[in-house]
Amino acid sequence: MADKSIKITVENIFKIFGSNPDSVMDQVRAGASKSELLEKTGHVIGIRDVSLKIPAGETFVIMGLSGSGKSTLIRHFNRLIEPTAGKIIIDDVNVMNLGEAALREFRRNKISMVFQRFALLPHKTVLENVIYGLVIAGMKKAAAIVHGMEQIDLVGLNGFENHYPNQLSGGMQQRVGLARALATDAEILLMDEAFSALDPLIRNDMQDQLKELQARLHKTIVFITHDLDEALRIGDTIAILKDGELRQVGSGAEILLNPADDYVERFVRDVNRARIVTIGSIARPAAQLACSKVTAASCKKLLTTQEAIIVTEAGKPKNIISREFFARYGSAGLKSKKSETDDVACINQSATLEESFSMLANSDEMAVVIDEGSKPVGVITPKVVLKAMARC
Ligand SMILES: Nc1ncnc2c1ncn2[C@@H]1O[C@H](COP(=O)(O)OP(=O)(O)OP(=O)(O)O)[C@@H](O)[C@H]1O
Ligand SMILES: [Mg+2]
Repeated sequence: MADKSIKITVENIFKIFGSNPDSVMDQVRAGASKSELLEKTGHVIGIRDVSLKIPAGETFVIMGLSGSGKSTLIRHFNRLIEPTAGKIIIDDVNVMNLGEAALREFRRNKISMVFQRFALLPHKTVLENVIYGLVIAGMKKAAAIVHGMEQIDLVGLNGFENHYPNQLSGGMQQRVGLARALATDAEILLMDEAFSALDPLIRNDMQDQLKELQARLHKTIVFITHDLDEALRIGDTIAILKDGELRQVGSGAEILLNPADDYVERFVRDVNRARIVTIGSIARPAAQLACSKVTAASCKKLLTTQEAIIVTEAGKPKNIISREFFARYGSAGLKSKKSETDDVACINQSATLEESFSMLANSDEMAVVIDEGSKPVGVITPKVVLKAMARC
């Protein structure tokens, strides 16, 4: 994550609901549990000491059961909620320090929100709903219509611009909500359970559409859900909340393969990891060696902790020298490896474990893991795949 630019930084946010939150902060900091605090003081812990770094251009999912603090957390981002302690920094701006006018400007231009229950204006058409915020913000109507139609096109609602919300299905209404949020050109989209009210099939469609849009637009999307499948499907990074506390942050594969605690473990137990975990996330590192550089000396040096991939001068994978192979056959083995003409088995890093099964079943040895440009990024063996499936 270090090389990605960070869009939103959440620093030690606490949110306590009740008559005098400051008076109970010492107890919260000392570790009082949510139920204990409620019983003793009547205060509710919404968020407890959450820190996060959300990279620009990512779909960042915040997941947790009902009451875990998801909505409370993201409402801090545009200061619909003030924290009891801590701060939010967006693009180097401390959101806590924004005055009234600056905050209005910030909410209008920087952040858009998509809600669970669409929140469309019933007496306005699709187009009028989409451009409503633009016109209020002072854009000329003709320009707003052109811009609004582009967004309607983006979400696939062409031809419905003059319909009213009650003439649309739930999924279509949610598309209008999305188009309206996109219309402001905000760099950050906050989506609070945006798809939760939809039927499963329509929900899947919306998830696909969001992924497609995101591949084109590269917004910073903070997406809230209590549904693990949805989180795994659309999230580049997933943060898991419980009782207002952050339990784990990581990619879907990281969370599935290394759950941070018993709670996360129970949460992810029933997920079919073969369909989620990608080969790239479990590939082992390998050195690359141009064919002309394959010598006993170079191999001896390289093959201490990793395997080696022989590549053509153009960088295409040609063969693999495993540590085990070199230990067993030495220089004589290298000669035969260099002269082998069969194509080495290659598998794309974005393939899921399930998609790799048939290929690995048909290859006795290691396969090369390649990126989208067919450049090698590591190696994989059937055993490593099985281990990831068995989580050992
Ligand atoms: N205005 C409020 N006053 C008192 N308590 C609140 C308030 N808003 C939220 N809470 C409490 O804070 C905790 C977190 O609530 P929040 O709405 O953020 O949960 P959530 O994860 O979004 O849940 P859901 O999935 O049901 O939307 C809950 O215990 C809730 O009761
Ligand atoms: Mg909520």
